[in-house]
Amino acid sequence: MSNSFAGKRIVFGVTGSIAAFKVAGWVSALAKEEALVDVVMTEAAAKFVAPLTFASLSGRPVFEDMFSAEQEGGISHIGLSREADCILIAPATAKTIARLAYGLADDLLTTTVLAARIPVIICPAMNVQMYEHPATFNNLKILRKFGYHIIEPDSGLMACGEEGSGRLPEWEQVAEYVLRQILSQDLAGQKVLVTAGPTREPYDPVRFISNRSSGKMGFALARTAFRRGAEVTLISGPTAQQPPAGVECVNITTALEMHQAVMERYEDKSIIIKAAAVSDFRCATQSDEKIKKNRSSLVMELEQNPDILKELGRICDHNRQLLIGFAAESSNIEEEGRKKLLDKELDLIAVNDISSASAGFEVDNNQITLIDSFQVVKLLHTSKLQTADLIWDHVVSNEMLKTDRP
Ligand code: C5P
Repeated sequence: MSNSFAGKRIVFGVTGSIAAFKVAGWVSALAKEEALVDVVMTEAAAKFVAPLTFASLSGRPVFEDMFSAEQEGGISHIGLSREADCILIAPATAKTIARLAYGLADDLLTTTVLAARIPVIICPAMNVQMYEHPATFNNLKILRKFGYHIIEPDSGLMACGEEGSGRLPEWEQVAEYVLRQILSQDLAGQKVLVTAGPTREPYDPVRFISNRSSGKMGFALARTAFRRGAEVTLISGPTAQQPPAGVECVNITTALEMHQAVMERYEDKSIIIKAAAVSDFRCATQSDEKIKKNRSSLVMELEQNPDILKELGRICDHNRQLLIGFAAESSNIEEEGRKKLLDKELDLIAVNDISSASAGFEVDNNQITLIDSFQVVKLLHTSKLQTADLIWDHVVSNEMLKTDRP
C-alpha cells in the first residue's frame, strides 16, 4: 500500500494570516513527495504571499478568482474538489472559519469546500484572543459537526507579540493527520500497543547498562498504524525520536517500568507489537552515589528482567488479541524465529537480520523476515517506515486481525 502523498491530489486553501508564508514550505514538501497540489488563495492571502510563490513551488497554476473565465474554462470550483483526495486549509483565519460555518460561499475557496464531498482538514491560525473568542469557538464547533477535521493550533509566542494558542503547527505533525484522511483506513477500529527503544538499567545515579536500539522501528510502527486509522499507544524507552502525531506516548526508562506500563495497558488492545529492545538483565544493586574509580576492578551482579513478551503470550486473550514480537538475529533466522514464536506463544514474529551493517540497530533500514505458524515471508530490505507498512500490509492481507473493523 502506498504510505505517502505520492499521486494524491490535494486542494490546499491558503487564507489571509501571517502564517501564510509558513505553508509555502508545506506545499514544497507535498510537491517533493509527488502530490498534486492545487493551491486556492483568498484575496487576503495573496496580500501576504504572492501567488507566484505557490505556483512555483507546486508547479501548477494557483486558483484565486471564482469568476476567472480562463480558470473556469480549465477546471471549475466543483471540479477542483471532485478530482481531489482532500481539502487542507492552512492557515485558516477566523473569517474563513466563520464563512465556512455559515455556508457563505462568496469566494472560490469557500465555494469549493461547500461543493466538496471529500475530507476537509482545517488548521486555524490567528491571534490568541481571536482564537479564544466564543464566536470562533462556536464556529469551529459547527465545522466539527459537519465532519471537518480541525487540527488544534500550537501555543507559544505569536507574530503579534502575544503568547498563547493560535500558532500554526509544524508540517510534520499536520502531515500525519492529513495522511490519516487520505490513506486506506485498514486499521480503523484497532487499538494498537507498540513498545519501542531501549531500556536503561542504572547502577549508580549517572550510569546505566543499555543497548543500541534507536526506537526507529517501533516509532515507525506507531506512526504508520495511526495513519492507517488505528488508536495507538506507544510505550518507549529513552530515544531521540520525535513523538508521532496523534499517538499516546508513555515514556519509561527501565525494563521493570516497561513491564508495569505494558501490564497496565495491554488488556483493551487488539494488537500488541513489541519492538522494544528490553534489557534482559538489570543491576542487582544500585549505588546511591557515583561509583569512584579508585579500584582496579568492579564486579557487578545482574539479575534477570521479566520477559514481558513471553508473559503476554501466556496471559493475553489470543482469540481477540494479536501478539507480535521482534527478534534480532544474526544467523539461522528462520530456525531461531520459529523457536521464539512457539516459546513465547506469538501470532507473528518479525525477525530482524542484524548481520548486515546497513540493517537493524541504529540505522534507518531494516531487513525483516515474518514468521507465523503457516508461512515465512522475507520483506524487502527497505526503510523502517516502509518496513512498518509492509508489516501492517501482511497483517491485513493475511486476515490476522482479530477484532472487527467498524
Ligand atoms: O528473546 P528475545 O529477547 O530475542 O525476544 C525479543 C522480543 O522479546 C522482542 O519483541 C522484545 O520486545 C521482547 N522482550 C521482552 N522482554 C524482555 C526481552 C525481550 O518483551 N525482557
